[in-house]
Amino acid sequence: MKVIKAQTAGFCFGVKRAVDQVYDLAAKEKEPVYTYGPIIHNEEVVRDLEEKGVQVLNGKEDLLSVKKGTVVIRSHGVAEEVYDLICENGLNLADATCPFVKKIHRIVRREGENGREIVIIGNANHPEVEGIRGWCVSKVTVIGTEEEAEEFEPNSDTGVCVVSQTTFNYKKFNKLVEILSKKRYDILVLNTICNATEERQQEARKIAADVDAMIVIGGRHSSNTQKLFEICKEECKNTYYIQTLEDLDVHSMQSMSCVGITAGASTPNNIIEEVHKECQK
Ligand code: F3S
Repeated sequence: MKVIKAQTAGFCFGVKRAVDQVYDLAAKEKEPVYTYGPIIHNEEVVRDLEEKGVQVLNGKEDLLSVKKGTVVIRSHGVAEEVYDLICENGLNLADATCPFVKKIHRIVRREGENGREIVIIGNANHPEVEGIRGWCVSKVTVIGTEEEAEEFEPNSDTGVCVVSQTTFNYKKFNKLVEILSKKRYDILVLNTICNATEERQQEARKIAADVDAMIVIGGRHSSNTQKLFEICKEECKNTYYIQTLEDLDVHSMQSMSCVGITAGASTPNNIIEEVHKECQK
């Protein structure tokens, strides 16, 4: 059987970099290693790291209770205040903020210092957005819906700088920018959407269109895996949604001559590889 595994299956560059960094630290550090929030929304990875001694700090109170060791900042990034707390508390800092997120921190800081107020297009409760807010030095507004864009009242005497949460939907971003731009003030729009999700979806669609069966691997509650499944199902009616190799009906695969594999953004590589190997048998 021919097996095509998507190159973009699983962790994006930023998440992979962060997870690898924690495993490296867990292997070499003598003092305790912590992550500020779960390094990734995958219980198996968090549990595996816990067994290796890595503990999760849930917020500032937890952080202040720690007296020694290294704190890893995950790919979503955090507010500047958290960096300060880590240093003031005498802890070591390992910054695994995705460089694409770090770039947004630099933009909002620079444009704020240049006198512009900041608009973040995104979900106000998402940790990445909370982190970006924490680098703003001027007025900041988070806009996630068309109503919020309509209601937005800019300062009359300063310009506006618009950035986006990296995982925000591109079409929705354009729509919100269109509404903001109609207000005719000095507006600087920087599209800071990361295309990792888009690329993963495009590749999955392409593979699914060419195979007899498509396997999509990811957590049951992972919305990006559900989306991948829907996309693949449109192209290939034999699309299977599995969480691990255990869910795979190996017998039904045996009659296929060509099978494709993709995986959601929080699916660890070892799970993808297990499925890949099984299909190649
Ligand atoms: Fe991933 Fe970084 Fe993009 S964490 S989704 S590569 S912004």
